[in-house]
Amino acid sequence: MTTDDDPFLAVRDGARHRALAELAARGPVHHLTLATGADAWVVTGYAEAKAVLTDPRVIREGASNSPYGEEMPAALYSALNSHMLTTDPPAHTRLRRLVSAAFTRRRVEGLAPRIERICADLLDGMAKTLEADGEADLIDAFAGPLPITVICELLGVPSESHAAVRGWAGPLLAGRFVGYEAYSRAAGEFVDFLHLLLADKRRQPVDDLLSALVEVRDGEDRLSEDELTSMVQLLLLAGHETTVNLIANGVKALLADPGQLALLRAEPDRLPAAVEELLRFDSPAQAPVPAITAEPIEVAGQRIPAGENIVIALLAVNRDPARFADPDVLDLTRDDGGHLAFGHGVHHCLGAPLARLEARIALGALLERFGDLALAVPADSLERLPSLIINRLVVLPVRRAG
Ligand code: HEM
Repeated sequence: MTTDDDPFLAVRDGARHRALAELAARGPVHHLTLATGADAWVVTGYAEAKAVLTDPRVIREGASNSPYGEEMPAALYSALNSHMLTTDPPAHTRLRRLVSAAFTRRRVEGLAPRIERICADLLDGMAKTLEADGEADLIDAFAGPLPITVICELLGVPSESHAAVRGWAGPLLAGRFVGYEAYSRAAGEFVDFLHLLLADKRRQPVDDLLSALVEVRDGEDRLSEDELTSMVQLLLLAGHETTVNLIANGVKALLADPGQLALLRAEPDRLPAAVEELLRFDSPAQAPVPAITAEPIEVAGQRIPAGENIVIALLAVNRDPARFADPDVLDLTRDDGGHLAFGHGVHHCLGAPLARLEARIALGALLERFGDLALAVPADSLERLPSLIINRLVVLPVRRAG
């Protein structure tokens, strides 16, 4: 398999969906050698994915789901990786309960006015670029800065440090694609920064999520220092890049489909349903973190022995024709919801309400501000970043058609 037809790494826009559709046509589960060189069972069927994601025999602990586990100093590794995404119940249950007590619905919903303000400011900047240059990169101008600003403000990262956090997030997200040197430098600086910030919040708690996480307790139980730094890096990474892609992939899908775009402009109340369809149609995350089988399991009649890697191909699962009618068609009026873009089971996305809120406000504000937005390049010339986890456009050039 070349990179061009790799179901996770193909660069040309649409190529991953095409490669996965070919794979899925042969069955719901496949034994593949991934680009990393690791062998894995790749699940492409919707029903099978749901079954695997709720199977207690498919676990995270022991799977190689964090880069440079062998090379990194143990203390640094633990400061980054003691979070809920790579743990299983009961350890996972404890972490999720503690974090959920601080990351409340009230805290998320209270962010709406601030998200609206950030969107308005970013769109002002984008309007200026469009006027000066005739086009703008929607990711650089809007979809990129919005989620990092929101998550930093939610946590209580001071504004003068947002750029540094963005700088560290790049290598941490790129993982093995950036090399050990750059990864470990970013990790070390980021963890040092978090230790200082947490000490600050301890000295002087304020009304932000970091202070709440520092204070959160369940009886005698509380988050340890490593659990705090790990959780914050998870929130910053998981909560950032995926939302960038939801907005950018969503805008791209709408601009490439004038009929659906016109429908949404005519009926803006459809926005919440539109966000769900965009999550299904071009899912921001390609796969949950890898898991392994603790015991043999059977998926669609296929026996998978213990100790095998399992990868859920979310792009395929969300376009499984056995679950979604005409799955390759963007249809904002669809009523067969239930996509797995936020995962499923105990690890279902903790930040889904925030992601939905940001996407609704961002898409609504963008469409209202620019009644004539169009792609500045042919849709089929767009490219995706290589990443096993993220489904991200490199750039999304837009212009005003009027
Ligand atoms: C469109 C945006 C988003 C998408 C598509 C997305 C997707 C996902 C997926 C697929 C999972 C499951 C991963 C797995 O099973 O390995 C997950 C988990 C998680 N997400 Fe999100 N996410 C988004 C936004 C956010 C935001 C905004 C936050 C936080 C501010 C967040 C925080 C988390 C956390 C903490 C988990 C781990 C939950 C657990 O292990 O119990 N996500 N997300």
